[in-house]
Amino acid sequence: MNINGSLTIAVSKGRILTEAMPILEKLDITPVEDPARTRKLVLKTNQAGVKIIIIRATDVPTYVEYGAADMGIAGKDVLMEYTGNGVYEPLDLQIALCKMVLAEPRQRKTINGRLRVATKYVNTTRNYFAGQGKQVEIIKLYGSMELAPVLGLADQIVDLVDTGNTLKVNGLVPVETIAEISSRVIVNKAAMKMKYQIIKPMLKEMNALAGKK
Ligand code: ATP
Ligand code: PRP
Repeated sequence: MNINGSLTIAVSKGRILTEAMPILEKLDITPVEDPARTRKLVLKTNQAGVKIIIIRATDVPTYVEYGAADMGIAGKDVLMEYTGNGVYEPLDLQIALCKMVLAEPRQRKTINGRLRVATKYVNTTRNYFAGQGKQVEIIKLYGSMELAPVLGLADQIVDLVDTGNTLKVNGLVPVETIAEISSRVIVNKAAMKMKYQIIKPMLKEMNALAGKK
């Protein structure tokens, strides 16, 4: 499709970028440089007005909320955790599928005192346990959550699971699924109004491609 006007799209780097690029390419949005090779953070595309910015997953909603990007592609895990003033979330792309789970050691240890849960999803974890009427101690980590129960830092973790390999090799088992995760298109609220003529047909085409490899 031909995009007549300016549009900045923020995409999480890593696996979402890998799965989102084919969708953008089917919309005839192709970066002029290979995102996997360049160190550039702003990528021009074959369409004069369209730019792609490649940023940390957790920063995508921030760029979109403040209008630095008109739209973005981010995981539901990141969107659930985000506490900003809001963006529109019009479309589930059905890519980067995984689950957010509560997990614990296969050999459960006796827990003395308040349950300690390690995660990078602090808000989501707090809400989850609050919904169950449980007060737990949440320990914020930035990665490799699976390590925490192994070394006795926490009793349980909240993390993402796809194949289950990471849990398994670290002696952990899932206890409960907190949420099914996929990547969503998010849109800045003002851009949705001002650039509706550009964004609406894009959403329509992306909707038709969602979940198709
Ligand atoms: P950062 O280190 O920048 O915070 P990250 O290392 O977690 O990010 P990725 O692992 O690429 O970056 O994850 C980005 C997004 O991909 C997550 O927000 C989630 O929606 C999705 N995701 C994460 N892990 C998996 C997985 N194992 N399988 C499928 N999708 C996943
Ligand atoms: C993600 C997630 C788990 C792992 C799950 O980590 O945080 O650790 O994938 O996938 P699996 O069930 O298929 O093993 P990632 O690979 O993104 O590494 P990270 O620690 O850098 O986030």
